Amino acid sequence: MVSRYPEYLDPAKWRRNLALQIEGLDFRVWPDVGKNEDILLVLADFAPPGLFRSLRNLRCICKLGAGMDALFEDPDLPEIVPIVRLQDPTIASQVVEYIVLYVLSRHRHLEIYRRQQLERTWHPIPTRVTSEVIISLLGMGRIGAKAAEIFQRLGFAVKGWSRTAKKIAGVECLFGEGTLTDVIGDADYVICALPLTPETRGICDRRFFEAMKPGAWFINVGRGGHVNEVDLQTALESRQLAGATLDVFSTEPLPKNHPLWAHPKVTITPHVANFWLDGGIDEVAQLYRRLLAGCSPQNVVDKSLGY
Ligand SMILES: NC(=O)c1ccc[n+]([C@@H]2O[C@H](COP(=O)([O-])OP(=O)(O)OC[C@H]3O[C@@H](n4cnc5c(N)ncnc54)[C@H](OP(=O)(O)O)[C@@H]3O)[C@@H](O)[C@H]2O)c1
Repeated sequence: MVSRYPEYLDPAKWRRNLALQIEGLDFRVWPDVGKNEDILLVLADFAPPGLFRSLRNLRCICKLGAGMDALFEDPDLPEIVPIVRLQDPTIASQVVEYIVLYVLSRHRHLEIYRRQQLERTWHPIPTRVTSEVIISLLGMGRIGAKAAEIFQRLGFAVKGWSRTAKKIAGVECLFGEGTLTDVIGDADYVICALPLTPETRGICDRRFFEAMKPGAWFINVGRGGHVNEVDLQTALESRQLAGATLDVFSTEPLPKNHPLWAHPKVTITPHVANFWLDGGIDEVAQLYRRLLAGCSPQNVVDKSLGY
């Protein structure tokens, strides 16, 4: 196992639970990988430079967590070794919980009422009917499509944006670069749930924020690399945006002196939209058994797409 996030992944737990399913398992934790030629399968949440290339008998890399970007950053990623993405639905469900939580909190003015309570003041604020509130989801994959369905069921007007065409009942689905402005132009909430690829890096920039409806709210659960943080601050200060909820940042942990920390219109969480990666243990055991049986892995990522 190769991990740089001890808060999210407990190697001892993985070793214990995998050993219950795989007799004689030899489970090693990077950087103590032992003899490089022994390694058949790597479970990784990132790519230590040059490591994968050095594993001569490596048959598969299994990405722990949703985003593939942390692996594709490695210029030495071996071409012929398949990369598997776990199918555990819990990761997406948790991120959807996060998105719904922050949209509904703002929609129902929770932060304002909390302040009112502390001040012992009583000022009811009208709640807009959901059908008049537009929510746009960028990325209609495991996270975006699920969030879109939930918002649609709550009665919101929902738009979704993806690379290829989608059909989801009650959701206006658009796809391709040319439609981005139509997706974000009239939305009250714009939620980035895209993977970080060469096409999507820096997508939320000055032009993007200027194309959003004045007073809209921006939520990023994708990756920090999607957002030009200086352009975001400019959009917040010019009142183009009412505010932003950010779970991911260009540098993590967010440096102590970063201006976003103190921004009154920004809510920051420390990359916790999903905090559950242990759900993949059974799937990994199955994958390992397939490899031992000489079968090809399932759920292999298309490296040319980068996600
Ligand atoms: N904050 C957290 O804790 C957390 C947790 C999990 C995931 N994430 C982030 O969320 C991302 C999305 O996760 P997911 O599981 O929903 O991914 P996914 O199932 O792979 O879906 C990705 C979606 O993005 C769309 N897309 C990709 N490139 C695009 C482009 N150039 N233009 C328009 N749409 C594009 C895809 O379009 P198609 O459907 O047409 O392919 C797909 O709908 C992950 O990659 C990761 O970075 C963050």
